[in-house]
Amino acid sequence: MISRRYFIKKNAVAAAGISIGLTSQIKALAPIKEIIKFPSGFDFGVSTSAYQIEGAWNEDLKGESIWDRWSHNNDHVKVTGDVACDHYHLFKQDFELLRQLNVSTYRLSISWTRIFPDGFGEPNQKGLAYYAEILSLLKRNNIKAIVTLNHWDLPQKLQNIGGWANREVAYHFADYAKLCFQNFGNDVAFWGTHNEPWVVAFMGYFIGTHPPGIKDISTALLCTHHLLLGHGLAVKEYRSQNLKGKIGITLDYSYNIPETQSRADIDAASRLNEKHHPWFADPIFFGKYPEKIWNWYKSKGIVMPKIKVGDMQIINSPVDYLGLNYYNTDTVTHNAAGWWPYETNTLKNKRSQFQCFEMQPEGLFAVLKNLHTRYQGIDIVITENGYNDDNDAVDFHGEVIDNQRIAYIYAHLKACKQAMDEGVNLKGYCVWTLMDSYEWGEWSRMGLVHTDFKTLRRTIKKSGYWYANGIKSGFSL
Ligand code: FCB
Repeated sequence: MISRRYFIKKNAVAAAGISIGLTSQIKALAPIKEIIKFPSGFDFGVSTSAYQIEGAWNEDLKGESIWDRWSHNNDHVKVTGDVACDHYHLFKQDFELLRQLNVSTYRLSISWTRIFPDGFGEPNQKGLAYYAEILSLLKRNNIKAIVTLNHWDLPQKLQNIGGWANREVAYHFADYAKLCFQNFGNDVAFWGTHNEPWVVAFMGYFIGTHPPGIKDISTALLCTHHLLLGHGLAVKEYRSQNLKGKIGITLDYSYNIPETQSRADIDAASRLNEKHHPWFADPIFFGKYPEKIWNWYKSKGIVMPKIKVGDMQIINSPVDYLGLNYYNTDTVTHNAAGWWPYETNTLKNKRSQFQCFEMQPEGLFAVLKNLHTRYQGIDIVITENGYNDDNDAVDFHGEVIDNQRIAYIYAHLKACKQAMDEGVNLKGYCVWTLMDSYEWGEWSRMGLVHTDFKTLRRTIKKSGYWYANGIKSGFSL
């Protein structure tokens, strides 16, 4: 089966403000068995993050991160990342997997507390040596590194002074970035400052299901500003070092479309869209927060962040690319008693159930087109896209047959190619993730490689072989 829901309603598409001609293009995404080929130079990769795979949470002088503290103390967390996939010790064998997957790029994150156990101060030479070895292995294997500096694992010592709610943390972040650029600068093709800063700020400081578990929207909005400030300071630092790679940021885009064409539903969907991606991308590209959602917050009596003179110029420092994480699309309605302060109900959100994702490649196509138009042809790299299925298992023959994941990736690659044919400057695509790993409180199976969570044995899934072959000869079902 290829798709449960391949087409979105023409009207909903128009209402969501997606560019002209899209409906006919979406039809072209219908499942025809064709081989999809990408231009040479297009990068295919897989994505991971430090806390989700490394383990070794307190080895070699690593400091405590907020995720260490949270997973050790929070009753809702089913598993900790203390061991995770033990990639810290097994990274050499994991590189063998990367080679077998034929990828030309690999996205990893640096654990801030391996470099600065306290968040700042004396760097830890063992941490620097660890990432130097990883990056040199990548280089020797001709695999380009995409390196995220902040994939959520803030040093606990910085949380003790308020975390992202404290403006000082933005400056500590820039210092940490500076040291990473100095040490690894030319071994990294794409630097990413933050991964999904919305999640950092909102899940951590408003919804409260991620550390530090605060539930206050003004604090969350203040954190978004400090995250952006830290981003801008890091970009400026990068430029001053005259390095030959690129720098950008990764934003998540849970795409929202209105359930009906009513003005109320259209506005509700646009509120959810604006709170997420433009809230970060507009300040970076235009030097200002999106007015509509800023005013909406104000109209609800929310205390807005104080912006100091010069902040917006720093945040507005030019980036080279935009990293995009896309998983699925949600349908929303207006409901005055719904999710505060957005007054919305999300009708379909498979992600929250976290068993598997709905397949909605048309959403990815629409997002790519929108970003291209709104941010004037910026280069885009898909830093995450993937499919979760907790039922993935090694069968009697020692194989993992995950056809649904293959169908999901194929459909999304097709959407990518279609967007590129229409002028979108998409430069690369990374599957989330290399191997089944720790998923912020539990295990999940999103890898191209199966991980036995007891023995940590890795087994390449059918999708892994399929991806490797597609990278070489084109993708088909
Ligand atoms: C993204 C995160 C990544 C992983 C995937 C499933 O939001 O960036 O670490 O959790 O979701």
